[in-house]
Amino acid sequence: MKSLPISPDKPWLAPLAGYSDLPFRMLCRKRGCAVACTEMVSVKGLKYDGKGTKDLLATCPEDNPLVVQLFGGEPQDYSDTMPQLLDQGYTFFDLNSGCPVKKVLKTGGGSALHLDPDRLVKTAAAMVEIAGEGKVGVKIRLGFMIGEDNYLEIAKRLEDVGIAWLTMHPRYAKQMFSGEADWSKLAVLKESISIPVIGSGDLFTAEDGAECIRQTGIDGIMFARGALFDPSIFARYLNLINNPENPPLPSFDLGKTMEEHINMTRKFDGSNRSFRKIRSILPRYAKGMDGIKAVRTKLTACENWEELIAAAREVSTLTRERC
Ligand SMILES: Cc1cc2nc3c(=O)[nH]c(=O)nc-3n(C[C@H](O)[C@H](O)[C@H](O)COP(=O)(O)O)c2cc1C
Repeated sequence: MKSLPISPDKPWLAPLAGYSDLPFRMLCRKRGCAVACTEMVSVKGLKYDGKGTKDLLATCPEDNPLVVQLFGGEPQDYSDTMPQLLDQGYTFFDLNSGCPVKKVLKTGGGSALHLDPDRLVKTAAAMVEIAGEGKVGVKIRLGFMIGEDNYLEIAKRLEDVGIAWLTMHPRYAKQMFSGEADWSKLAVLKESISIPVIGSGDLFTAEDGAECIRQTGIDGIMFARGALFDPSIFARYLNLINNPENPPLPSFDLGKTMEEHINMTRKFDGSNRSFRKIRSILPRYAKGMDGIKAVRTKLTACENWEELIAAAREVSTLTRERC
């Protein structure tokens, strides 16, 4: 694939540390996700063979198109690691300039790059040089400190070094996830640059996705927490924008989604570690529902795959009517 599909009818799955692994990406793709991002992967970890870092790159032929999101503060680390990634068959890359968590800021990467636009631009330029035009995107916020926007300055400079798309989560790094995403700044960004703009931020429902595109005129959207809560958000969104006269899709079967997620996890990585991970992730689907406590207790008590599937089936009969 020469370039990635970026348009309103091609919703992306956002990079989600701890969540957007291979099984979850496949779950979302089956529901209409057009492009999926990996969790953020440390270039330093790749360079020094960090324990677990390479596991984050697990993929399969159907997991396509795939964007590998990288983070780290030193441009040289990207130059040192990306050639191997290309050799291994990864094609598309995203630079994380939005993550506000301490562990990432300490590397000089994530949203710390907002504080050093020269380094950010240099890193993106190095990535484009290695991966080629059309293959690299960057994900930014509005700026680092609240009220101190530098997204426009950064966006123009990134465009000049040849990045192919820019994703913005319109909050400041210091806000983390507080307050509201300021979609009006997505519209300003779209007006200011010529490369495609993808929006992220407070897209919790299919309607949010459609409304964000309508209000801002951006080229595409990516679902993040909305997909964690309900991977069928992709199908709902596509149904809404492609067939606005059709009724919304009926509420999804939580137990079936859980069961599918368990089976995908088992298929792609049946290790004990992945079992513990999926067991801890499943209760997230039931967030905000009646009976969440009982669901969590039941799931966390499971000792093996069969018990987990049986618990998911039970959840299905208990909670099918969620809307
Ligand atoms: C659990 C979690 C993990 C995340 N991990 C990443 C990440 O690895 N890289 C990144 O650029 N953004 C990450 N984000 C940010 C999301 O990609 C997205 O931009 C943000 O959640 C805003 O979208 P939303 O409000 O629709 O969830 C993460 C968000 C959450 C909730």
